[in-house]
Amino acid sequence: THQWRGIIEEYRDRLPVTSATPVVTLLEGGTPLVPAQTLSARTGCDVYLKVEGANPTGSFKDRGMTMAITRAKQEGARAVICASTGNTSASAAAYAVRAGMVCAVLVPQGKIALGKMGQALVHGARILQVDGNFDDCLTLARELADKYPVALVNSVNPVRIEGQKTAAFEIVDALGDAPDVHVLPVGNAGNITAYWKGYREYAADGAATRTPRMWGFQAAGSAPIVNGAPVLKPQTIATAIRIGNPASWAFAEAARDESGGLIEAVTDRQILSAYRLLASREGVFVEPASAASVAGLLKAAEEGKVDPGQRIVCTVTGNGLKDPDWAVAGAPQPVTVPIDAAAAAERLDL
Ligand code: F0G
Repeated sequence: THQWRGIIEEYRDRLPVTSATPVVTLLEGGTPLVPAQTLSARTGCDVYLKVEGANPTGSFKDRGMTMAITRAKQEGARAVICASTGNTSASAAAYAVRAGMVCAVLVPQGKIALGKMGQALVHGARILQVDGNFDDCLTLARELADKYPVALVNSVNPVRIEGQKTAAFEIVDALGDAPDVHVLPVGNAGNITAYWKGYREYAADGAATRTPRMWGFQAAGSAPIVNGAPVLKPQTIATAIRIGNPASWAFAEAARDESGGLIEAVTDRQILSAYRLLASREGVFVEPASAASVAGLLKAAEEGKVDPGQRIVCTVTGNGLKDPDWAVAGAPQPVTVPIDAAAAAERLDL
């Protein structure tokens, strides 16, 4: 058969597993690399979207979570815990179900999208809303994992990075080589760390002839790496990346510097504009945080920082259905019609 087998089976020789490892999978990965027509026309480049919202729980987190839950199972854990802005908790909750484990999640109160909360709830996670932000949740999760019998599955767990690096492998496998530039949203900075590791490993093994420049974009109100200091009260409508003190800060700077890349900020307005462009011009519905990569590419192009003719991949990290409020807000109300073809046709200007 030709069914995709999930990232652990597809990239087994490049991941820390053995034949005895009890693989916990929802067949994540194998996501589409979609040519982006409008973005290519606007930049004069060949732009592709790595559509990570096509993963089983709707975000790239599944790549890391199959590894983290698999490893927790191998080590005999009965319970896992994570701090999350929503997607990690949705993913952990689903994979914990597959593994027969209890899943505890710590989320910033009132600051996670409804779809993500719904996922954690329907998968039966134990949810604690913390009176604080993501950074406070992560501090608390680390302390609980230190003191109690529960395994931490945040991206500070290095096997998460191992799983997430497979997205870079898939891109090189699809394109035949690494792109010139890879663009990502940056929150806790695990994903940019993972892609850079994946690209470097492929280049070192001769599976790619080069590595891309890594471009990361934070939301302007939550841009500690850009500012050079933690943000105590991070703000942005892109709740997934509302993070003031990223755990993988130093790794993200290394990815930027070693690749000759950049980490900059985009405003909420630029994020929402890219969000609408992706939906209305490319047919790809992402959540707001995901649009930060595309907002960053468009900003760089306007500033003349994008040389035409390059091959550029933007990761869009999460599915738009997770946080549909921004799709509905400001859109015209659908009109109501009777069951009558003539009336419907008139409304449709046919
Ligand atoms: N995009 C989405 C949709 C995310 O959910 C996240 C992170 C990021 C981008 C940023 O990735 O943290 O590796 O730099 N979400 C985490 C969570 C924090 O809890 O779901 P990063």
